[in-house]
Amino acid sequence: MSQAHPLPAEISAQLSTLSPTQLAWLSGYCWAQSQGAASSAGVIPAAFASETAASAVARRVTVLSASQTGNARRVAESLHQKLEAAGVSARLVGVADFKSKTLPEEDVLLLITSTQGEGEPPEEAVPLYKFVFGKKSPDLSKLTFAVLGLGDSSYPNFCQAGKDFDSKFAGLGGSRLTDLGVCDLDFQAAADAWIDALVPKVAELFTQASAAPAPMLLLHAQPQQAARFIPKSSLTPPLYPCAKKLPRVMRKKTLNTSKSI
Ligand SMILES: Cc1cc2nc3c(=O)[nH]c(=O)nc-3n(C[C@H](O)[C@H](O)[C@H](O)COP(=O)(O)O)c2cc1C
Repeated sequence: MSQAHPLPAEISAQLSTLSPTQLAWLSGYCWAQSQGAASSAGVIPAAFASETAASAVARRVTVLSASQTGNARRVAESLHQKLEAAGVSARLVGVADFKSKTLPEEDVLLLITSTQGEGEPPEEAVPLYKFVFGKKSPDLSKLTFAVLGLGDSSYPNFCQAGKDFDSKFAGLGGSRLTDLGVCDLDFQAAADAWIDALVPKVAELFTQASAAPAPMLLLHAQPQQAARFIPKSSLTPPLYPCAKKLPRVMRKKTLNTSKSI
């Protein structure tokens, strides 16, 4: 084994199969293991700990569909599949099953909506529409969002529901992850293009959230201390969307450890 590359060939080969997100996660885990002596003595430098708390913010992604006859729902399913394929764990929800008042607590919201009537949202999205356009405007300053509208350009109010949600989310303080997409009746190609541009941006949010090695030190080396610095909600499996996709040899220890928290 040389100093320049101290890993066995078997491990190197396995590393080359990992995605950037998985590598970032693993780097934190390994770093934590290498620091075992310091952490078992209970020594966590203050500056390091506060940096950890700031960087250990989990990202939660919701793909929300608002559809009348199924087109927007199918596009949402496709987006969800592509996110999962990119290693991004996301929740897929139809707006009929979504509680509007939880919107301000969403983190990353990706809305696919058609337009019905004369520029109105589909029936199942009316409660959400009323919620954001109501007198008691919610504060969406914690929200990162993207909206894709499906419509028909032969209508005067083309993709109006998508346009309305997009501008309202921004007006209520949300941060737009990508520009509003609009799709005409032959929506497939335009929807695919919008999704293919969006997925790397969402994956990037995950990489940023998991790139810092410090959370791994706290989580794996000292679970009790970790609880002092990381919000409890961040200690759930979705914080590490790629863990289940690690090769088995690397997964075993990780899963056992999170179970003990
Ligand atoms: C009754 C009706 C009204 C519609 N009104 C509009 C409209 O105002 N603006 C628009 O862009 N598209 C309009 N559309 C087109 C739909 O948004 C489009 O067909 C979309 O793909 C439907 O998606 P969905 O199956 O997810 O509801 C309308 C469609 C129907 C059937």
